[in-house]
Amino acid sequence: MRLGPDRVAARATHLLRPTATPYATLAPLYDALLGDRFFSQVRYVFEGLVQRYNIRFASAADVACGTGTFVRYLRERGVPVVYGIDRSPEMLRVATAKNQGNSARFLLQDFARLQLPEPVDLITCHFDSLNYMLTTDELLYTFRRFHANMKSAGHFIFDLITEQPPRLSPGPCVQRVTGPGFAVVRVTRRDPRTNIQTAFVSISRNGCSHREIHVQRGYPIAVVVGLLAQARFALLGIHDFQTLGQATNQDATCDLRGTEANSRRCYWAWIILAMRPSVSILIFDLDALFREGLRNFLLAAGYQGVDVAATEPEALAKLTCGNYQYVLIGLSPLLSGGRELALEARRLQSNAKIFPLISAENQPFIHNHAFEYIIKESVFSNLLQLMAEAGGEV
Ligand SMILES: C[S@@+](CC[C@H](N)C(=O)[O-])C[C@H]1O[C@@H](n2cnc3c(N)ncnc32)[C@H](O)[C@@H]1O
Repeated sequence: MRLGPDRVAARATHLLRPTATPYATLAPLYDALLGDRFFSQVRYVFEGLVQRYNIRFASAADVACGTGTFVRYLRERGVPVVYGIDRSPEMLRVATAKNQGNSARFLLQDFARLQLPEPVDLITCHFDSLNYMLTTDELLYTFRRFHANMKSAGHFIFDLITEQPPRLSPGPCVQRVTGPGFAVVRVTRRDPRTNIQTAFVSISRNGCSHREIHVQRGYPIAVVVGLLAQARFALLGIHDFQTLGQATNQDATCDLRGTEANSRRCYWAWIILAMRPSVSILIFDLDALFREGLRNFLLAAGYQGVDVAATEPEALAKLTCGNYQYVLIGLSPLLSGGRELALEARRLQSNAKIFPLISAENQPFIHNHAFEYIIKESVFSNLLQLMAEAGGEV
C-alpha cells in the first residue's frame, strides 16, 4: 500500500523512538550552537518587517521561544506584555534564567494547543519551529490556535522551510561541532517524496552521550498559503529568508501584494500575516428592511463580520477594498444591472462565494444559471445551509 505524505509523516513519528525528547539534552548548548548566531539575523529581519508592514503591538507571544532570547529582546524593546511558549521544559529552563526579573511570562505548552491567558497583538514563531508539524492537518490546527489567541487587528510573523533545493542530495549529511567540553554530531536524511527531514543528533557532554531525533517537514509555499487562508489569516507578504526579496515560487499561486520580479525559488521563507478583517460577509440590497433583517439574522447565527451596502456604488467600493467570504447581492428589482454587479463581485472577490438573491416573482426571468440563486422569500430557511455547504465556518 502506498501512503500519502501525511500518512508517511504520521507513521514516522511512531517508528522513531528518540533516546531523549528533542532539545532535552541540546538545551544548555543551544545558544552556543545555534541560538546566538541566529538571533542577530532574526532581529534584523524582524525590525525590517515591522517597519515595512507598519506593525504595531503592545503585547506579544513568541511561540516555540526556545531559550528565550527573542522574548528578552521584546522586553528590552519596551513591549509591555510578552509571553514565551515552548513544549520543552529544558529550553524553558534556560529561557526563564535568561529573563529573570523582566516580567516576561513563560508557558509550557504544545503550540498546537496554544492557550494564552489573553489574546495578544503579535505572535512570532522563529527558526523553522513550525516545521515540527508533520501533517497539513496539524499545521492547519496550529494556525487556527494562533488565530484564536490573537487580537482582532493582530499580526503573525514566522519563518518556515518551504522546500529543499533539488540539487541537495537526500543525505545522509553529516555535521560535527565541537566546543569546550562538548561534541555534537548531526546526521540528516531527507525523504524527497514527503519532504520530511530526520536529524539524528548525538551529543557528548561531561563524559555522557545522548541522542535526540528531530523530525521536520517542509511545506511548499502554496500549501502554507492555502492553510493560512483556511485559518482566516490575511497574507501581507512572503519574503525569501536569505535575500528578503518577495518570495516567488513557480509552483505557488500566492497572492503577493507588491510582488517584485524575483526568479529565485524560495526554500525558506518569512511569512507575515494580519488577522483577516472581521468583516467577512457583504450584503447588498436596495430594500433597507430586508437588508437589515438579513444582517441581524446572520449576526444571530454567530457570524461576526457582517457588512452591508445600501447602494450599488457603495457595494462596488466595498467589493474593491474588502475581503469577503460571502457576498449576497439582491438582484430585484434591477435584475439586469444586479446581474452585472454579481459578475463584478465574482471578479473582485475571487475567493468569495457569491449568492445573488432574487424575488420569487423574478425567478422566471433567470435564464443564465452561472450563479446559485437564492429566493429571497426563503432565504432565512436556506441560507445557513448553503453557506455551510460552501465551506464557511462561523
Ligand atoms: C529551532 S528551535 C527555535 C527556538 C527559538 N524560536 C529560536 O529562534 O532560537 C525550535 C523550538 O521549537 C520548539 N517546539 C517544537 N515543536 C513545538 C511544539 N509543538 N510546541 C511548542 N514548542 C515546540 C522546540 O522545543 C524548540 O525550542
